[in-house]
Amino acid sequence: MIGKSGKSSARRATAYVCSDCGSEHSKWQGQCTDCGRWNTLSEIALESAMPEKSGVAQSRRSGWAGKVDPPAITALKDVTVSEESRETTHIGELDRVLGGGLVHGSVVLVGGDPGIGKSTLLLQAVTQMAQTMPGLYVTGEESLTQVAGRAVRLGLPLEGVHALAETCIERILEQAAPMGPRLIVADSIQTLWTETLTAAPGSVSQVRESAARLVRYAKETGTAVFLVGHVTKEGGIAGPRVLEHMVDAVLYFEGESGSRFRVLRAFKNRFGAVNELGVFAMGDKGLREVPNPSAIFLSGHRGPQPGSCVMVTREGTRPLMVEVQALVDHSPLSNPRRVAVGMEGNRLAMLLAVLHRHGGVAVGDQDVFVNVVGGIRVQETAVDLPLLLAVLSSLRDRPLGEQTVAFGEVGLSGEIRPVPNGEERLKEAATHGFKRAIVPKANAPKSGKVAGMDVIAVERLADALEHA
Ligand code: TYD
Ligand code: MG
Repeated sequence: MIGKSGKSSARRATAYVCSDCGSEHSKWQGQCTDCGRWNTLSEIALESAMPEKSGVAQSRRSGWAGKVDPPAITALKDVTVSEESRETTHIGELDRVLGGGLVHGSVVLVGGDPGIGKSTLLLQAVTQMAQTMPGLYVTGEESLTQVAGRAVRLGLPLEGVHALAETCIERILEQAAPMGPRLIVADSIQTLWTETLTAAPGSVSQVRESAARLVRYAKETGTAVFLVGHVTKEGGIAGPRVLEHMVDAVLYFEGESGSRFRVLRAFKNRFGAVNELGVFAMGDKGLREVPNPSAIFLSGHRGPQPGSCVMVTREGTRPLMVEVQALVDHSPLSNPRRVAVGMEGNRLAMLLAVLHRHGGVAVGDQDVFVNVVGGIRVQETAVDLPLLLAVLSSLRDRPLGEQTVAFGEVGLSGEIRPVPNGEERLKEAATHGFKRAIVPKANAPKSGKVAGMDVIAVERLADALEHA
């Protein structure tokens, strides 16, 4: 092929991948044009020296490095559809996030900060699954003694689980093949490297290529694979984000360093919903499931505090009570700070504008910090109203009424919009002893009462602020 320049443009051998968002660029640039981050592009080798060259290059585009069948057009109705066969992990909260168990041959990336509990969770899973899916735990970070020691200390069944302390992907697969595990845990993907690339282990190209090899192995043999990936604070030199499009599911482990509670959340799942949360508590016997997490994230301080509002959020299929905190303080800066932890920052700025315009409350000269207690993230818009109530409460330095909860979306014209499952949220609040709820009109029952709780129905932001 002759390129524009007249030179032969043989297939590009390298590309530049953003370690933050994983997008691929043909030339190096200082800023990733997809996510806007600076200095995140690094060069990767597109083709390794493997024999199946074209297959790898082609399958890379389709997201996973499986075998490439000769394409044939088929009527959609003639395609045989089979339910994916799933296996329980014997950890109910993990099954829930996976969409009802682990699918055979699927590749699941488990990401999270170092020390959050990824190795512990997967060790618990692989040992408890060994009866149905003989497992291989590949450790590149800890020694075999450490892994086995932890399993013994946690009282996990060791029958049927093998371990391998190895980081070279060729040798791992070579050893795995004759043993034929049904489940492989690779802890962590950042430590793996392939002989076919000269780049340093941990670099984007090594991480990508090693993951691609494991994905291909999984698809060819029907072995399920868990990849552990550390998320470094800056998005990582070779953050797991570059792997997100290659795997079937991406689960993130979140939690606050001071808290023993951990939340597992699906960020992507080809085999299930992505809004389910799994909740765990880290203790001296490893991770324990919290099947009924509804009130664990309430801060537990006695009496109402200024700048705090409890809300009922609904993540997945369960209601969850969480506390939204705000701190509003006079700012010395000409451009006051807006900081959101546990919710989206842009939404905070937008809601503050609505508060000014439709609630008549100005915070233009104030720093505004908001936080969702417990290190969890609230992604639904039901947080809008509780957030603004917390901001108002902090600004006035007056607590909201005792035992009050709120939820509701706030629109740009100051209207309060309903959220799904209003009645269920109200009932949940009532069971936890809340006496008053400020909610969107369409979510309130006609009688104005739910299980002895006063329900204040509001249509406009101004009404809600008045009741608060
Ligand atoms: P780990 O699973 O090694 O984290 P990751 O693989 O995500 O880096 O968990 C390490 C932390 O968990 C460590 O700080 C100690 C704590 N931990 C407990 O509190 N109890 C336990 O039973 C175990 C195994 C770990
Ligand atoms: Mg670990």
